[in-house]
Amino acid sequence: MVKYLIKGQKILLESCDVKGYIEIISEDIARVYIEKDSLIRNTGAICNTVIPSGDFKVNELNGGITISTSKMIIKVRDNFKIDFYDIDGNAICKDYEGNRTRKNRLSEIDKALLEQEGHSAAEEENYSFTVIKAMADAKAFYGLGDKMGYLNKKGYMYEMWNTDNPDPQLEHFKALYKSIPFMIALTESSCYGLYFDTSYHLYFDMGSESDEYYYIAAEEGNIDYYYIAGSNICDIIKEYTYLTGRINLPQLFTLGYHQSRWSYASKDEVREIAENMRKNRIPCDVIHFDIDYMDNYKVFTFDDKRFEKADEFISDLSKDGFKVVTIIDPGVKKEEGYFVYDEGIKNGYFAKNPDGTVYENEVWPGESVFPDFGNENVRKWWGDLHKQLVDKGVRGIWNDMNEPASFKGPLPEDIIFSNGDRQTNHKEMHNLYGHYMAEATYEGMKKHDKRRPFVITRACFAGSQRYTTAWTGDNHSLWVHLQMAVPQLLNLSMSGMPFVGTDIGGFGSDATPELMARWIQAGCFSPLFRNHSAMGTKYQEPWRFGKEVLDIYRKYVELRYTLIPYYYDLFHECEKTGIPVLRPLILHYGNDKVAVNLNDEFMVGESILVSPVVSQGQTKKLVYLPEGKWYDYFTKELIEGGQYIIKDSPLDTCPVFIKAGSLIPKYPVMQYIGEKQIDTLELEYYPGEKAEYVHYLDDGESFDYQEGKYNCYKFTCDGDNVKKEFVHKGYEKDYKDCIIKNTCTGVVKTL
Ligand code: GLC
Repeated sequence: MVKYLIKGQKILLESCDVKGYIEIISEDIARVYIEKDSLIRNTGAICNTVIPSGDFKVNELNGGITISTSKMIIKVRDNFKIDFYDIDGNAICKDYEGNRTRKNRLSEIDKALLEQEGHSAAEEENYSFTVIKAMADAKAFYGLGDKMGYLNKKGYMYEMWNTDNPDPQLEHFKALYKSIPFMIALTESSCYGLYFDTSYHLYFDMGSESDEYYYIAAEEGNIDYYYIAGSNICDIIKEYTYLTGRINLPQLFTLGYHQSRWSYASKDEVREIAENMRKNRIPCDVIHFDIDYMDNYKVFTFDDKRFEKADEFISDLSKDGFKVVTIIDPGVKKEEGYFVYDEGIKNGYFAKNPDGTVYENEVWPGESVFPDFGNENVRKWWGDLHKQLVDKGVRGIWNDMNEPASFKGPLPEDIIFSNGDRQTNHKEMHNLYGHYMAEATYEGMKKHDKRRPFVITRACFAGSQRYTTAWTGDNHSLWVHLQMAVPQLLNLSMSGMPFVGTDIGGFGSDATPELMARWIQAGCFSPLFRNHSAMGTKYQEPWRFGKEVLDIYRKYVELRYTLIPYYYDLFHECEKTGIPVLRPLILHYGNDKVAVNLNDEFMVGESILVSPVVSQGQTKKLVYLPEGKWYDYFTKELIEGGQYIIKDSPLDTCPVFIKAGSLIPKYPVMQYIGEKQIDTLELEYYPGEKAEYVHYLDDGESFDYQEGKYNCYKFTCDGDNVKKEFVHKGYEKDYKDCIIKNTCTGVVKTL
């Protein structure tokens, strides 16, 4: 018998000594909270603007209760099992009823190794909770952040524990740098989302143990998850990003090409890179300074010989259209007299050992200490440290090593950190470390630079999209890593993180000319567009692979630059809805059986389909086109969808298709964003049904758009008739002309 009491949006529940509640967040989101201990923990993932609301009714039924909203029905059975139904009474997501068939997950050797690394080899019996859901007719699981492997996560097992493992990442890796405990389940007839708001080490077994169920287990904490109802994947992502937040519109320049390498060790070297970019006519907006720019890897310093007068140098670069992004790691060198260390020690801002002494481990600067980012004062202090970088002209910050990574074994679980005002341990804060570091960086940059902050992170948690973009960490120049990049970026995108990319060309190992050519073709479509490589590997700038690859490289970087307004429009949409820029086909073709498991294709928005070549030696690509009609972007050939085609793909060709009935805005090729004044907006019309397109324009860098200083145009075109309307007019600049060009007939119409 379930006892219940309604208190505001919460239905407090009690049955057989179990206590908890269901909270109606909205008509399609319900929070399930079941108490394991009385400690309330905050992960920082749920936006503080989320105010539970939405009508609901509660009825008693067979010893349990049912809670109904206009979008879902929740049944709490008398044994505290919880099932979710749609409003027609169809079961969507049910707690599993049968017995578990456990697998012994850890061999004795695995356990010993874990203990040696400082982790307790948590036995399943010691887990704080295991939520087991019936597999029923789930055919795919998506999301879960940056996990390796394929698009569809069904049948695999993952862990949420931010991990920096330098070995080449493969399909069997259970954890990487990011923990986003959010999954989307696609069933035969419906879909739903589950977000577990828990920062402790989590296990997501998506059916590797059994075909009958999947489970989510945690090493500590209360059961605290959000069920999201929706009729398609887009709905689920919208609701998930309503809960955990959406990105702020990025500055326009950040959508351009970024060049990076670990080992640009002096101004001369960076200058040479910049000159070569322009000489070779490879558009480029950003150069990244990896750890080499610092004095002995001390964060917030510049080496005063190799990077003497950094401000003048950065200003020189900016005259030629380059912006500088600097890396900032969390590890602070232990050195008396170094201001960051001294200030942090004086104020007690670093993580501590259980005996109260400051915890030390080794990272790039040698013996280092670690800021306690869960503490608001520490975040503010850290944020303010960025003023000196902003004053030197730095335009973005790259947060690395923030799992946190450490060279002398992982941080023990009992290291003391804060979570707000509460003192806690590494076990709780590990997965939140990168998230809070990114928040500190974002707020510091916002305060001191005033423009929309550009932050890149390696580690993060659910909700980090509010503060930062992300790259996928240390991949290698291996074909398998190019292959896995596609599903990895798509799942990150579906996990609320839209501004993502890989190290193009691969970080570790040496890229071959062919791999570089294929990676730039796929990579030029990733929202974060950066070539980065490791010290000691083959140099990977575009001109290092001979003329053929250089020309191919230029072709695709130029293609990206022409699509900048399309990308910016997608980011504008993403800020409003959470729908990502990169999308798996299943997002728009929810009933398509092929799209469920399509690993080597993706969409950019709703109009562009990319099917990159990701295998060595391949010059013909098997491309799947979903229903509808598609134009080959390069040949303009019209092709019927709903079938596989074989597309000739010599080394300079990446299969790209445009949906018939699309309008695509384009800019002319520029060497950097802002090089040319855009007076005329050109839109390409790909004939089909009547095309409609909303285009967004603002100053590209300030927060003024949030006060309405932007223009929104709606274009419609059915071939003969073209129309432009203002949806919003608030930005003083406007295009002189807009022209729509019919890509088949070549006819141009001016508006
Ligand atoms: C880490 C980063 C990598 C960076 C290197 C040196 O391995 O993931 O991108 O180049 O550290 O800072």
